[in-house]
This record gives sequence, C-alpha cells and structure tokens, in this order.
Amino acid sequence: MRNKVTVIGAGNVGASTAQRIVEGGLADVVLVDIVEGLPQGKALDLAEAAPVVGHGAHIVGTNDYADTAGSDVIVVTSGLARQPGMSRDDLLARNAGIVRTVVEQSAARSPEAVIVVVTNPLDAMCHVALRASGFPVNRVVGMAGVLDTARFRTFIAMELGVSVTATSALVLGGHGDTMVPLPRRATAGGVPITELMATEQIDRLVTRTRNGGGEIVSLLKSGSAYYAPAAAVYRMVEAILQDRQEILPCAAYLEGQYGIEGLFVGVPVRLGRHGVEQVVEISLADDEKAALNASAGAVRELVHVLDSLS
Ligand code: APR
Repeated sequence: MRNKVTVIGAGNVGASTAQRIVEGGLADVVLVDIVEGLPQGKALDLAEAAPVVGHGAHIVGTNDYADTAGSDVIVVTSGLARQPGMSRDDLLARNAGIVRTVVEQSAARSPEAVIVVVTNPLDAMCHVALRASGFPVNRVVGMAGVLDTARFRTFIAMELGVSVTATSALVLGGHGDTMVPLPRRATAGGVPITELMATEQIDRLVTRTRNGGGEIVSLLKSGSAYYAPAAAVYRMVEAILQDRQEILPCAAYLEGQYGIEGLFVGVPVRLGRHGVEQVVEISLADDEKAALNASAGAVRELVHVLDSLS
C-alpha cells in the first residue's frame, strides 16, 4: 500500500517538505492551504518536476480536506511565519486558532494518522493539536529538536573546520530561547567537544544555536527558515512511515518523565509507526536539569496563556 502524507500549509516550509517527501519517494502528498490556487499551483509544479527527477510519487494540491482522508501522517505547517522583531510567543494566539481549525478538519478524516506539528510557537501548538485531534499522546509530536540539533552540529563543524557528518549533538527543551543544548554530549568524530574547544567557544555556539531561527529571520528580512526545517520534518516522517524506531529529539508529551507532567517538551524519543513509541530518559547533570525545568516552565506559561484565551 502507498503511504499518504497530508502537508497543511503550502508556504515555504510546507512546500519544501512536500518536495522532499515526493522526490525522496517516501509517500504520496496532499498539499493543503487556505489560499485558493496556491497548493494547486505548487503541487502541479512539483508534479511536473517528477518526470525530470524520475520519481513516481503523486502530489495534489487542494483547499478541501476531503482529499486528505486516510493519511498516514499529517504535517501541520499552516500559520504565520515570524517577522523580524517578532518573538515566537507573539504568534501564539493567531497560530493557535489556525492550528486548531486545520487539525480538527484533518484529524477527523485520518483518525489513525500521526500528527507532526511544525507551526510555532512549537510546543504550545502541539498542545493545541493534541486537544483538537483527540488523538492519544503518542500520535502528536513536534518538530524542533531535530532542527535545533542540526543547527548546533552545523556550528560545531564550522568552528572546528571538520565534516558535519562526523558531529553529533543533542538539544532538549522547548523550541525557543530557553532550549537546552547539551555540550557535554556533543562530539566530533566521537571526541567530546569539551575536549576540543574552550568554554567561551562552546558558550558562543550554544548561544548561536538558541538564536538559530532568529539569525535566519534577520538575514532573510521577511519570512523564516525553511530548508533545514523541511529536512528535519522529512527525517521524522521517514522514521514514522518506515517504522525505523529511530531515536530523535522531538517535542513529546511528558507524563512524569524528566519530572515533567502534562507538557510537550523536547526530549529524545523513539519514533516509529505509532509515532512516539517511547520517551527516552537520559541522565542529566544538575545544571542541565535546571535548564530543562526552566525551559518547561516557559512552555507551561504559554499553555496557561492559551488556556486563558479559550
Ligand atoms: N489553513 C490552511 N493554511 C493556512 C491557514 C489555514 N487556516 N492559515 C494560514 N495558512 C497557510 C498560509 O496561507 C501560508 O501559505 O500557511 C502557510 C504558511 O506559509 P509561510 O507563510 O510561507 O510560512 P512558513 O515559512 O512555511 O512557516 C510556517 O512553520 O517554522 C514554522 O514559524 C514557522 O509557524 C511557521 C510555520
């Protein structure tokens, strides 16, 4: 049976994600947007690239959720992108309304799907998607850690002048200024970066990782990052559809793990066909634990704001 992925939002992140999925031969894609013509135009353009690229995946663009029925994965990118000077939190109320609507419409038509949330502020939008879908907690997961970790690895490789493929890293916490990169667990060629760099260098990379999204926003002047976010979504969708049981940092609903209750926070999870198959608990140093708690506190505040709005 062919896999089917619905991508909601035919903007920069959504269209790039759709392109990666069909051109990677991972699944057929239904691209949805509220703007008439936009998803149809982008889907037709991508379909016309198929003979050149040489893949057989189907892609359709639509404004009608009936076309999304029976999807295996729903990727939610619809929303407003961050503008220069606008924090992720400013987007909260506007994007919550959008995410609620699109998840209600799509989840009802694909009751067995795994929802991958991309819209910011990410962790809060995961809560909105969980409530709007009524899905079990394992089938709602947020894309943040894969991207934040990729940014950290990029900066490590740039700083050391080594291949990025030899690096590994882990970033926990909410997807925002309070995220928690873990230098202690970052390596290049298996060597901890704490043995390769001075503390000041590491601190600079950690700060740059935390501001990674903002750095792209300031350079682009309008809109926010999409190539790396789309690559990160692809990686998660691949792990789900191919039941890879891959351990990736994602926003997952915690029910006591890491001492956090009832909150989406970025942690390592085992990702497979059922979504979050397991939250992987790793040991944290006291300062890392404190930073994760502070980050979770920031997410909780946003969820409280959301509650007060509804
Ligand atoms: N239903 C469907 N689509 C919608 C809706 C809605 N109710 N509201 C907005 N959209 C669509 C817009 O029409 C637009 O095409 O969502 C798309 C968003 O695309 P962009 O503005 O290009 O934003 P993008 O860069 O793709 O970012 C999307 O991902 O990384 C996050 O912070 C980012 O929250 C933002 C999201």
